[in-house]
Amino acid sequence: MNEVAAQYEAYPYPERDPADERKRLITGSPSHPLEIDHFVFGGMRDWAQPLRALVAGGGTGDALIQMAAVLTSAGRPYEITYLDLSQASRKVAEARAEVRGLKGIKFVTGSLLDAPELGQFDYIDCCGVLHHLPDPQEGFDALGRALAPTGGMGLMVYAPYGRSGVYPLQEAFGALTAGLDPKARLAMARAIYSRLPGGHPFRRNPHLSDHEQSDAGFYDLLLHSQDRPFLIGEVISSLDAAGLTYAGSPQAGLYDLAAMLPEGVGTHEMLDLRQQMTLAEKLNGTIRTHVLYAKPEGAKVVVAGKDPLSVPHLKGVSGADIASQVEKHGRLTITQNGEKQVVAVVREVAPFLRQVDGRRSLKDIASAAKIDVFGFSSLWRPVERVLTGAGILVYSRLLT
Ligand SMILES: C[S@@+](CC[C@H](N)C(=O)[O-])C[C@H]1O[C@@H](n2cnc3c(N)ncnc32)[C@H](O)[C@@H]1O
Repeated sequence: MNEVAAQYEAYPYPERDPADERKRLITGSPSHPLEIDHFVFGGMRDWAQPLRALVAGGGTGDALIQMAAVLTSAGRPYEITYLDLSQASRKVAEARAEVRGLKGIKFVTGSLLDAPELGQFDYIDCCGVLHHLPDPQEGFDALGRALAPTGGMGLMVYAPYGRSGVYPLQEAFGALTAGLDPKARLAMARAIYSRLPGGHPFRRNPHLSDHEQSDAGFYDLLLHSQDRPFLIGEVISSLDAAGLTYAGSPQAGLYDLAAMLPEGVGTHEMLDLRQQMTLAEKLNGTIRTHVLYAKPEGAKVVVAGKDPLSVPHLKGVSGADIASQVEKHGRLTITQNGEKQVVAVVREVAPFLRQVDGRRSLKDIASAAKIDVFGFSSLWRPVERVLTGAGILVYSRLLT
């Protein structure tokens, strides 16, 4: 067994207790069905059609459980294939699905490099896996071949700057614990870690906490034997090489170069999107993961929210709360990647935001406010841009 396989047999990641499924549902990006709809299907997917999904490198099952649980409670059909090399991780994922009584899941133990043999999928989740492959491009290519022409993919890969301090420690712990079994490696690395100087860039990095959550978290962050971060431009190049196209990100606001430059500085207009995003990543300096969606090259990318029947959803905040903030202050405070940002928002938008409930369409919201489509759009689009860029607003007709 190679080192990566041995790690995930000893420490399935992330550490999860199946009994906790009775208490809470873990949700996140990528792969919440509402977010999948927004980025892959232009927010207009017909959910009466079963979603054929693959969770590639599914680990202990976060994305699998999120997708299956949300679709089950929405009464929507699906067939999800869970795929991972680790038997121990699969057992945890199976137990979680069992506790929730989720059906429609096929569990496969194997490599994502063989994904095309499992079928053609409408959606592929691959979160936190490709940067651990010996040759990540082979993974991008294999997943690209497993995607249906009208489908899409949700990815998370590590980014370098927000993981400042991680890589020197991985190298040092790797050298000092070589040849030991995973348990002994963990014990030794923890002992060394406790003696690191307070000024070490890792100790100074407020963006990382996995090592404090669990043994599996410590191991994954600081003892991984194969871990290669990507700049956003490198991810987009890997997608291109696999016949895929970048289709957007719930954290698009972090890569908005124009928003980071003083007014009147326009040189960025000469750069393509990939170059602009990479420069924004360098200026931001704290992005630790890239979460993004991709579609097959040449596939129609429909921008969500253009159709008046699009249904907006707010994430982690209610329409009423956000509306009162806007009404009172004429601005919104948004926290993204640990940073607070205050954005001016015109007060006239507040009644629209109050109507957002995941069921009313843009057309419904405009007619409730007795405003014509053009008037509505001119007020709505600027706030839509801010909220979608921060991953707070997505469009989907899942619940209609
Ligand atoms: C960091 S964990 C991420 C788990 C899960 N996707 C999540 O985000 O919670 C990486 C997972 O990828 C799996 N893995 C690594 N290489 C793989 C491969 N070639 N094929 C399938 N799974 C793989 C590991 O066994 C492990 O469960």
